[in-house]
Amino acid sequence: MQCSWKAVILLALASIAIQYTAIRTLTSKPFQLCPVPSPQNCGLPGSPETESPIEGRAGCDDYPYFSFNTSRKTHIMVLATTRSGSSFVGQLLNQHADIFYLFEPLYHVQTTLIPRLSHSRNAADRRVMLGASRDLLRSLYGCDLYFLESYIKPVPANHTTDKLFRRGASRALCSQPVCDAFGPSDANVEEGDCVKRCAALNMTLAADACREKRHVAIKVVRVPEIGDLRALVEDPRLNIKVIQLVRDPRGILSSRIETFRDTYRLWRIWRATGRRPYNLDLSQLTMVCEDFLSSVSTGLSHPHWLKGKYMLVRYEDLSRNPLLKTMEIYDFLGLPMDKSVEEWIQANTRGSTELSAKHKYGTVRDSAANAESWRLKLSYDMVEYTQATCQKVLHQLGYKAVKSAEELKNMSLSLVQDKTFVPFS
Ligand SMILES: *[C@@H]1O[C@H](CO)[C@@H](O)[C@H](O)[C@H]1NC(C)=O
Ligand SMILES: *[C@@H]1O[C@H](CO)[C@@H](O)[C@H](O)[C@H]1NC(C)=O
Ligand SMILES: *[C@@H]1O[C@H](CO)[C@@H](O)[C@H](O)[C@H]1NC(C)=O
Ligand SMILES: *[C@@H]1O[C@H](CO)[C@@H](O)[C@H](O)[C@H]1NC(C)=O
Repeated sequence: MQCSWKAVILLALASIAIQYTAIRTLTSKPFQLCPVPSPQNCGLPGSPETESPIEGRAGCDDYPYFSFNTSRKTHIMVLATTRSGSSFVGQLLNQHADIFYLFEPLYHVQTTLIPRLSHSRNAADRRVMLGASRDLLRSLYGCDLYFLESYIKPVPANHTTDKLFRRGASRALCSQPVCDAFGPSDANVEEGDCVKRCAALNMTLAADACREKRHVAIKVVRVPEIGDLRALVEDPRLNIKVIQLVRDPRGILSSRIETFRDTYRLWRIWRATGRRPYNLDLSQLTMVCEDFLSSVSTGLSHPHWLKGKYMLVRYEDLSRNPLLKTMEIYDFLGLPMDKSVEEWIQANTRGSTELSAKHKYGTVRDSAANAESWRLKLSYDMVEYTQATCQKVLHQLGYKAVKSAEELKNMSLSLVQDKTFVPFS
């Protein structure tokens, strides 16, 4: 039975494919997309030649799902990885009165399709995940929240669920008319309070709230690299703007070790004993660096399909200079930044008013957001190892390698080089 493991893998793949097909079949209704998504057929924004919102729309009018007035919507995507500060960036959008924000809806795709292969690098798994993810994102940007229901377990009855992942992180889902528990004056509902006090989520109301808002923002940590999103970015029915958030991989590693204690157990053992366990899962590190490298290389090579649609943000810059960086983000989005965003920054960061104090570590109060605190948490040999593994991407993003334990622990020595990444248009 030497080949039995192959059989197991084949079986697993087959079952994934079947599950995905089943879901596609069950929810095939909203899939009547325009025959060929090209500006000629749909004439929606993104195609400069067909700016007139009426002319050229005909191809899409048969499909109510896409009949929303997209010409005024910006579809914002925060493309990040876990523990890179994406919740913070999400908040910068969530706080805006005109933005409908969803926190990581692809969580549901992953848990439904690939429950135990959550970090699978298998090419077939990956294709299935990405195909489903793009479909879901496309629907959600169109405020079709029912589409998400096929991935929620248990399947919502009467379009109502209390299982939406991190519902409480979305302001619109914790306030009227979606939730009646809080009045308009309760500006900042805590995530836990939202979940405790709001009745189960009525997806119909949530979708209405989404349509009410001028723009939609979605945080995504389950798409490995920007190239995987090309079909979505090029879809003329959407007006996607990608904010790619990166962070020093050494910081990500440190933060994950603290947060995902089981998954990163062997790394903790390394840190505690000073010896690298022989069975350490190195892909937990190499994946981050490879994905960053390929994503950032794509972004910085300025391909035509990302023109005006891509902004690279280093978490460290944001955490040093939250207000200024946030203004740049809103500039890129082409949206006015509103007062509530500014107030949220003031309330949640230190040093945000000192825009000129360049080397002050004005970081977010939230412990996870302390951008360079990893230096005090990782041992030098772990850092050295990470630097060797991620050399290219560290260099590309302007993170300095340290050459000794003294350098590592000397916090007056910044490891973040000044580097500007200007969105290209
Ligand atoms: C879409 O909305 C914009 C801004 O609200 C408006 O100017 C435009 O006329 C609308 N287009 C259609 C086809 O309704
Ligand atoms: C759904 O709504 C129908 C009609 O209002 C009701 O009879 C049924 O019990 C509801 N189902 C659940 C699971 O709440
Ligand atoms: C959800 O909200 C819609 C729109 O207000 C309403 O018609 C529907 O009855 C609500 N569903 C439930 C289960 O309360
Ligand atoms: C820390 O780095 C600074 C700046 O390079 C240097 O002046 C200082 O001597 C260093 N401190 C220690 C303890 O090495």
